[in-house]
Formats: sequence, C-alpha cells, structure tokens
Amino acid sequence: MADPKKALPENVPGDFFVDASCIGCHNCSDLAPEIFGEVDDDFYLVVKKQPASKDEVHKALQALVCCPKGSIGTREKHDIKSVIEEFPLEISQDVYYLGFNSDKSAGAKSFFVADEGGNWMVEAPKFQERTLKWIESRGGLSHIFLSHRDDVAQADLFADYFKAKRIIHQDDLEAQPEAEIVIQGTEPVAFGPHFLVIPTPGHTMGHCVLLHKETHLFTGDMLTSQERFGDPIETWKPELCWWSWEHQTESIGKLINYSFTVMIPSHGRIWRDTEAKMKEHLRKCIERCNAEPNTNPYSAHRISYLAFMVEHAKRTGQTQYAIETQAKLDELHKRGAKKENK
Ligand SMILES: [Fe+2]
Repeated sequence: MADPKKALPENVPGDFFVDASCIGCHNCSDLAPEIFGEVDDDFYLVVKKQPASKDEVHKALQALVCCPKGSIGTREKHDIKSVIEEFPLEISQDVYYLGFNSDKSAGAKSFFVADEGGNWMVEAPKFQERTLKWIESRGGLSHIFLSHRDDVAQADLFADYFKAKRIIHQDDLEAQPEAEIVIQGTEPVAFGPHFLVIPTPGHTMGHCVLLHKETHLFTGDMLTSQERFGDPIETWKPELCWWSWEHQTESIGKLINYSFTVMIPSHGRIWRDTEAKMKEHLRKCIERCNAEPNTNPYSAHRISYLAFMVEHAKRTGQTQYAIETQAKLDELHKRGAKKENK
C-alpha cells in the first residue's frame, strides 16, 4: 500500500500520488503515459498530471494495480476490485498482458501467448491465484520464455505448477539454474512452427528475444518504445546496458532479417507497424546506438542503476552476477575518485 506520508515531492498535488518506494520500472507510464512520468531523467516516476477524464482515471488505476511495489496510491476511494478483474488485457489475437508485475523481475511485464501446440508465458508476473486460475482456464502453459536474467521473478513456481519448460540462455542460467531448456550460442532455435528464440547478447550476455508467428517480437530489455528520440523503436539508455553496448547494437542488426509487426518490450510501450516500417525503425535505432556515448561513463545515474542491480542480483540469488556488478560499480567509483582528484 502506497503511503501518502512518503509521497514524492515532485507529484503534482491531487488524488493520485507515487511514494518513495518506486523503483522506476516505467510500467505506470506505459499504461498511463499522460499521467505518470520520469523526473528529469531520474530513477523514479511521479504523477505529472492528475487524471481528469474517466478514461484517464481508469488507466491510472490499471497502473496502480499492476505496480510491482505498490508505490501508487490515491487519497480518494476508487473501485479497485473491478479494475483487478479486467486483467489479463488482450494485446492482439492470442497475446495478453498478464498484469501484476513482480518486483522480483524489477517490474518487467509478463505476457501469455495462446497456441494450439501449447501456451507460452513470457517473463513471469507475481505468483498469485488470480493469474494461475486464468492461465488454467486457458489450458495451462507448456513453455516459459525468459528473455534474460533480470526478469525471471518466480518462473520456477509457475513451471512447477503447470509442469512447463523454462527457456533461458546458458549465459544467464544463474538466474534459473534448474531451467529445463538452455539455449546455447548465438544461433536461433525454433520451437515448432510458431516460436523462434533468437539470442541477442548485449543488455546481458545471455539476452534473447522471442518471435511468435512472424508477428509478435518480445524484445525483453533490448528494445523498447519510450519516445526518447521521437522514433518508436529504441534501446534503453546506455547506462542501463549491463554487459556490452557494442554487442547489443550488433544484435539489433540481426533482427532486420526477421519479419514482425508488433514489438512487445518487457519494459516500455508496445509498438505496431508494417514489416517494412519496423525494419526502417531498426535501422534508425542502430544509427543512434552507433552515435551514442560509451556505456560506461562515470555518471551518477550509472552508479544508481548499478547499485540497484547489485541488490536485485542478491535478492534473486545470483551471487556471481552480484559480484560482477559490484566490481563494475567499484571501478566506476575509482574512476570518479580519480576525476575528482584531478
Ligand atoms: Fe534487464
């Protein structure tokens, strides 16, 4: 439950507020972009405009019920129960946003893909009865695709409950060491006629994306749509690339060879376009990545993000990942100290 006494000072006054527990996952600004937004590129989001219309209130309440930390609150009473009952939300034929993002995946979105060969889940939401019952009513799960080590949440509990096979890359296996299917190397792996797992190292070493029916591309944390540059396909900023910006840029290049019309990121907004336009957007994105600064500058933002990831790695039992991320953080601190001594 969000605490009005801990409401962030940057919220505009009124009914809705975000409190200091926000982890900056951006899910609220994806669901209600008119209402929630970042503060000067900072690590958290706030209410930038109070909802005015019925539709805006509704979207803000959807953001409230899906917030992984329960950081969004209201000062007035609303019918939250009926908003909860709307979930999952249909994205397109056979694809649903499950809602109820987990803080164990840093607030990543999770999706359900209905398929005659067995249903898939992408990433994992909170492990809760409502979601379990809904998935059960659709015939359960055969596979759980995990794009990378940050976003697995309680995938193990879902796998156990539905006897589903988890898919993750070898290089991110520490996050889900008991995964039933481990992707190796950089070649794509097909699962029946409708699913293709494409290794896309960069954000993390073992990052992968999932292509469904040459239509939906689940892009994990590699690509998003935040309109930072006025173009619909972009990466997260370089400070949020944990492993290699250069490899990530190369991985984006690989995607030009595939067809898709709906881009579905784990953090960020969904983007729909023609196949040709998607390729054009990818090319623009690559140009920008090549022009962006190096991923490892000494910056307060990079330090905050890395410190957050050290804690996230520890909380999710990834000891080696925590050690490696801590080393990157120490290196930045050293670089900063040198800079200040100059
Ligand atoms: Fe990530």
